[in-house]
Amino acid sequence: MASIAPRQGGRGRIKSLDEILATAQKKSLKRSLGAFQLTLLGIGAVIGTGIFVLTATAAQKAGPGMMVSFIVAGTVCALAALCYSELASMVPVAGSAYTYSYAVMGEMVAWLVGWALILEYALGASAVAVGWSGFMSGLLDSVGVHIPHALKVGPPIQWGFLQGGEVGGLINLPAVLVVAFVTTLLVIGTKESATFNAVLVVIKITALTLFLIITLPMISGHAANFEPFAPRGWGNPLSSSGTGILGAAASIFFAYVGFDAVSTAAEETKNPQRNVPIGLIASLLICTVFYLLVAGGVVGAYGAQPLMDPATGLAFKEGSPELYASAACQAAHAPTVCSKEALAHILREVSNPLFGNLVGLAAAIALPSVVLLMMFGQTRVFFVMARDGLLPERLSAVHPRFRTPYVVTIVTGFFVAIAAAFLPVGTLADYSNAGTLFAFAAVSLGVMILRKRDPGRARPFRTPALFVLAPLSIAGCLLLFVNLNMESKLLFLSWTLIGLIFYFLYGYRHSNLARGIVDVPELAPDAPGSIGVAPMPGAPVPPDDRG
Ligand code: ALA
Repeated sequence: MASIAPRQGGRGRIKSLDEILATAQKKSLKRSLGAFQLTLLGIGAVIGTGIFVLTATAAQKAGPGMMVSFIVAGTVCALAALCYSELASMVPVAGSAYTYSYAVMGEMVAWLVGWALILEYALGASAVAVGWSGFMSGLLDSVGVHIPHALKVGPPIQWGFLQGGEVGGLINLPAVLVVAFVTTLLVIGTKESATFNAVLVVIKITALTLFLIITLPMISGHAANFEPFAPRGWGNPLSSSGTGILGAAASIFFAYVGFDAVSTAAEETKNPQRNVPIGLIASLLICTVFYLLVAGGVVGAYGAQPLMDPATGLAFKEGSPELYASAACQAAHAPTVCSKEALAHILREVSNPLFGNLVGLAAAIALPSVVLLMMFGQTRVFFVMARDGLLPERLSAVHPRFRTPYVVTIVTGFFVAIAAAFLPVGTLADYSNAGTLFAFAAVSLGVMILRKRDPGRARPFRTPALFVLAPLSIAGCLLLFVNLNMESKLLFLSWTLIGLIFYFLYGYRHSNLARGIVDVPELAPDAPGSIGVAPMPGAPVPPDDRG
């Protein structure tokens, strides 16, 4: 175990790249993933609630113009992915944006990034769980099993920036149950195999392809569905509503989140220098094309105009209790914007209900794995932060039998379940996006700083035109952030403030760097989160881990 003299001051505390790499090399995992598997891993982590459910939110915010929203959000993600790729190829270790920030911008920024990643992963997992609940309820309805309304949606909430729910709602029980199920899987150490991930990717792609085959031919007969194309304009970041094409882009950004799973698998990748960037970019490209076509199919086959409140003449707030209680949403053949299972709903309306049910079934089967990936990501970040001394060490306790970080997993599961029980999917996704955008911007900044500070270091992948693309990536993240609704921006600012207080009360004094400790105690070899040891879900299980 190596040690260095204590360094004072949060800003000056940098965990050097060489230290990080030395730790990783010492405990390195078998490198088994190739570009194809990485792309599958990316698609597996990316396609989920965003496209299957939030299309309805985007439609209420932007109308048919949501097609442009998908392009804007995809472009911002592609820019961030290019920046991620340079760091991921230079620092091919676990921990993602948090680890990169520690190496480049120091402990305090790393802490804030790790803190923001809680929004990304934990609230993201809640959002996907709520999305799953919508599909499960719809599927059960279609076979005559009706979950009582009070038990499938949260209550109407109007507490400052916490808003949402539905009249008559009490708790989203299916969402809580799926979180409990996934938490149990993580505690007993279930790993998603590469084969299982590939099967789920095939299921999701097949479902989206079925949707496209049925809906795209309908576009030609329904040109009127595209008029007006942008009924709510581009959006106004100064207004509190976060609507219009940019507002929808800020929400639909959620549909792309997850591609960073590829960079976190860098340690388990053959020739990461080449394969990680390919995996990142290819998975994003494939998803963007699908999303754009699906959005076109939604508009062309069924329409995506925002629903107006007859009382006020203004558009309803997306996902609001008022929207769901409106006469149009209560009626048969409700418009797209009312649906909690948009793609299945549209197919049931425009073609044989069987196809809608099949898409619903595909979502119901595949979405729990996205919850698992996000919760796994959360436990891994928590674990690395606890190992660095920024969170109490108790959190990283490893279960004696299952050898998993069960404490941090159960704590994560508890909070993910609480959020999923009471908040609607759109709200959760927006909160998650706020944290993710911050992390992406930090990575984009970090890669530029490192180019300046350490120009001689080997860069297996160099982001092309970095000093153009990285500022564009930061500007894109900022653009989407300011176009989130006011509640999400306020939640993010409050969350960051709480994070800073925590840092100065705890992490500042307890971190390994503050105490002069560089290396870390040996951990159980398969404990998720231990650098170089934990396979990503979706990664093939090393031979000695099997059975
Ligand atoms: N991109 C993932 C989803 O849409 C998080 O579910």
